[in-house]
Order: sequence, then structure tokens, then C-alpha cells
Amino acid sequence: MSLAIVRWIAGPVLHAVKQGPFALRESVRVGPQALLGEVVRIHDDVIVVQVYEDTTGLRPSTEVHGSGQPLAIRLGPSLLGRIFDGLLRPLSGTGSAYVQQGLRSTAAERLRFVPGVTVGQWLAAGAVLGQAQGAQGRSQRCLVPPDAGGEVVSVAAAGEHAEDAAICTLREHDGTLRELAMSHVWPVRVPRPVAQRLPALAPLVTGQRVLDCLFPVAQGGKAAIPGGFGTGKTVLLEALAKGCNADVIVYLGCGERGNEMAGVLDEFPTLTDPRSGRPLMERTVIIANTSNMPVAAREASIYSAITVAEYFRDQGLHVALMADSTSRWAEALREVSGRFGELPGEGGYPAYLSSRLADFYERASLVTTLAGDTGSVTVMGAISPPSGDFSEPVTSHTKRYVKAFWALDVKRAQARFYPAIHPLQSYAEDAREFAPWWATQGNGEWLALRRRFLTLLDEQAQLERMARIIGKDALPARQQLTLLCAELVGEAFLRQSAFSDIDRVCSPARQAAMMKLLGRFVDGAEAALAAGATPEAIAALPCLRALQRMGEDIGDDQLPRLAELQARMERDFAALVPASLQGEARDAAHG
Ligand SMILES: Nc1ncnc2c1ncn2[C@@H]1O[C@H](COP(=O)(O)OP(=O)(O)O)[C@@H](O)[C@H]1O
Ligand SMILES: [Mg+2]
Repeated sequence: MSLAIVRWIAGPVLHAVKQGPFALRESVRVGPQALLGEVVRIHDDVIVVQVYEDTTGLRPSTEVHGSGQPLAIRLGPSLLGRIFDGLLRPLSGTGSAYVQQGLRSTAAERLRFVPGVTVGQWLAAGAVLGQAQGAQGRSQRCLVPPDAGGEVVSVAAAGEHAEDAAICTLREHDGTLRELAMSHVWPVRVPRPVAQRLPALAPLVTGQRVLDCLFPVAQGGKAAIPGGFGTGKTVLLEALAKGCNADVIVYLGCGERGNEMAGVLDEFPTLTDPRSGRPLMERTVIIANTSNMPVAAREASIYSAITVAEYFRDQGLHVALMADSTSRWAEALREVSGRFGELPGEGGYPAYLSSRLADFYERASLVTTLAGDTGSVTVMGAISPPSGDFSEPVTSHTKRYVKAFWALDVKRAQARFYPAIHPLQSYAEDAREFAPWWATQGNGEWLALRRRFLTLLDEQAQLERMARIIGKDALPARQQLTLLCAELVGEAFLRQSAFSDIDRVCSPARQAAMMKLLGRFVDGAEAALAAGATPEAIAALPCLRALQRMGEDIGDDQLPRLAELQARMERDFAALVPASLQGEARDAAHG
């Protein structure tokens, strides 16, 4: 392989004089410690290398060895349940652990392989070779790599093998033999091929009412979570990792301080998956690149994470990728770009910030895999805009590529209203598409109720401004009632504690029941007002307190209690306004 000699070093960037050919994006090994790097520029006889490990102590005249391959990671069944650094090298234990420098590859785990093919069979790219079962029990598919395919010449019998040992030999089109293992290597910057990309059909169920009901993200879609410091980005991403209906979770901690990741690193291994009753880690891969790790590796970590997510998607699974935070990733891009001597653009970020963000988010997808199954990668990226200013470059560019925007609001967080998602700054472009899905979950009125809730919340913002000037009591009765209903929607529906055993995850059935119950309250309150009841009298209804607390009080397995609460509410309205009057009010309204 080619050789180059280091001439100049600045932090994670070095220049070396070529003694042979190098390709752009070729991965290289630097110096006696074989530090991992990547060729990012080539000028005449000089290569510019971005080094993914600490370059302290590296000297000019050190050797750089080419690998002939792009920067790539090994994808295999032993990824699940483990914690890696940004280049997918295993981190033992928790966040404080440091990666051993120059570590070449994952120590291959031994797994049980059960073949699913026979000699003579023709296998296309991405086809299923067999099943692999690790110590942790979960069975996974072994795939023919997307760049291979041919006739099976030999295949191993069922039994234990190292993950990277050959278990099958193919004769490819041109007659060459290719050995396949349970795992395979794939370049991180190249999206894995699929048979077909599919349009969004169903939402990713997050278990968070404000998201699922007001700002849903598609399965295979992309969402951004911008929010200032302490607004709840990390808590929300963790809640999504624990509660969403994905088969596999890829959690990327990118450039946050070690203690920010401690929650994930310490807590996840102790959690139980509410759906299967098995450890949550069994379906989770954590990639941690905390702020104390080399900055260039942070730039690469986002590609490692999405490549891992695509690998599980290609097994016909639904994957959710959480990235915390993409701002720290962009800062790494900025820092490395500065070392290249590139001209800074907006906010000091390189001009290609936007296209890099696009490259990342565009890998979110719902697809037909090469093997003919359906799989998806849903991407959710936190953004930490400096001083919470959403007009800064990372937020504004990300906005162009995501369909769901979950804006966390400092004021709400300060008032301890969680999740602090601002209902007027947030949006979901795909929402209309999900009405049929909600109908299958028992909420055919979902789109109408969603519009109603959003309208109430919008009116609330305007009326509160007015009320601050003239006083709430000076508002007309109708407007006072709007405020009352909007406050109830906020309190009973939008507020949801990530730390409540009952409420941290809300099933679609419970969300549907709660949404309809609140819709019915708004109808009943409007009818009562029309029949002469005052807003004060409606605010004093005995059921109101129970309604406000229903999220915390009534769990997913107690839906009949929501029906009882509704009956109680109807009785309260009936007591407030005699039925005859209600009827008259209805006639008046319709006549
Ligand atoms: N959904 C939530 N439920 C309850 N408390 C929350 C929630 N979100 C955030 N908090 C509180 O806010 C604090 C800061 O949240 P965090 O996610 O660390 O903020 P960020 O990552 O945006 O800086 C948490 O420690 C927690 O006390
Ligand atoms: Mg955080």
C-alpha cells in the first residue's frame, strides 16, 4: 500500500508528502501507533489527512500508510447491546472509558450461525444467508453484503463461529470466489443500497402525546429537536429511545459532555423493554463520542451511526436513530475545516454545512430492502442553538431537510412544563397522511381534533397577550372559555412527565381516548356557555381536576376508567345546565 511522510501537523489535521498514489476519502494509518485517519484533500504531491485519534506526540517525518479502502466499519450481529466510540470501536464500561489508541477492530465475538441457504443456490446482493444468535439471545439475519452476490459454493453447518470468520463462499458473476462472514465491512459515507424507497404511511409511535397527536414524524421520517440549554432535549431523546415503537434503537451521543451521556450509559443497561419484558439494551446500540474524545472522530460518528441504522433496516427492521446533538457535530466540522484553512461561511461554519446535513438526513428512509422486506430508519436530531436562537445556521439549514420540527421552549422549561415543546413554533409536514392510521387506532376524528387543539392553542397565545393588558376578567365570556379549554388541553394532554411510571409512555389507544374526551369537554363547555352557564361555573366543574390529572392517574391498561371519567363529565355538564336548556341552545346554534 502507498506511503506518505508527515510534513506538518495541527491538531487533528496533517499534511504528508506522497510516495505513491492515494485516493480521496481513503483511510490511512499514521505513525507507530497506527492512528486512524482519512485523506480529505490531495494537492499535487501532498495529502491532507484528518486523524480520528489524539495526535499528541506525533512528529514530522512519521509514516502514513494507505489502506486502499474508504473509511469503513464492520457491521454484524454483535453490535446490539453494546457501546462504541464514533468509529465503532467498543468502549468498555461507561463514558469515562477511553478508547485504546490505534485499536484496529472489534474483538470478534463468537455467535451461533444457522444457515438458511444450500450449496448451488443463487444469492443476490442483500439476500438472507442465515440467522445469527449471540449470547444475548436475540436472533438476527446475516445478509449477503450489498456489493456481493453469486452462487453458493459452500456454507458452514450450524454452530459457533467468530463473527468475522468465513461461513459461506460465493462464486460471483465473473467467476471469482468471495468469502462471506456473519458480519461485513461497509464504508460509512456511502448510503447502503435498497430496492425501493417508499412514501411515508404510518407515524413512528413515540409514546409522547404532544408528538404523536400534534406533531407526528413518519416511520422512516426525520425530526429536529432544537432547544436551548436545559430545555429537555436529552431527556426527550431518552424518553423516545425507551418508548418509541422501533425494533432497534441507535443512540448517538455526539460531543456532549460525559455527564450528559451518563444517563444513557448508566441507565440504559438497567432498563427493561416495556414491550418485550427483556433488557432494553438487547435492541439498542449506543455510540458515544463525548466532548473529551478527539474532535475529528465526532465528525465521523454521525455517519457511523446512520450506517449502523441502515444495516438493521436492511434486515427488515424499523430503526430509530437519536443524535444528541447535531450542533456539536457541526462544531466539529467547523473546527476541522478551520484547520484545513478553509474560508469560513455563516457563523464560522464551512460552506458545505448545509449539504452535509442534507447527506445525513436524507439517509432516513422507509424502504423495500434488497431482500424484499420493509424496513425503516427514522432520524431524530437534537440541535443546541447558542442562546436558543433558532435563526442560527445549524437550525435554519436543518429545517430545510426535516419534516417534523419539535421546538423546545425556554419559558416552558423554566415553568417546568415538560416536554417543553412549543405548540406554535413546532410543525409536522406529514401530519395529514396519518389520519387513516389514526382511524385504525380508534380515532377517526384525529385530524379534526388535532386542528381544533392547535386552533385553541393559537387563540390562547393571542388572548393571553390581551389578558395581560386588560385583565382576564375583562375578556368576553367566550374568550374566557377558550382560555379555560386551552389550559386544560395543555395541562391534561400536552404535559407528560418523563419520570412518571404511568405516564412516561402513552399508548395510541390511550392517546385516542384522551383526545376524544377532551374534544367532548370542549363541545360540552361550549354548549353550556350557549345555554347560559358562566365560564366560572364551568371552571368549577368537579370533574375538571380529574381531567387535568388523567395522564398521571389513568394508565394504558385502565382505559375503562377514562370512559367512567367521561360519564362523570357528562353528568357534571347535565347538572350545570338542565337538559331542556341544552336542547334549546343546540337548536338556536343550528337554527
Ligand atoms: N420530559 C421531562 N419530564 C420531566 N422533567 C424533564 C423533562 N425534560 C426535561 N426535564 C428536566 O429538565 C432537566 C434538563 O433537561 P435536559 O434534557 O438535560 O436538557 P438539555 O439536554 O436540553 O440541555 C432535566 O434534568 C429534567 O430535570
Ligand atoms: Mg442535553
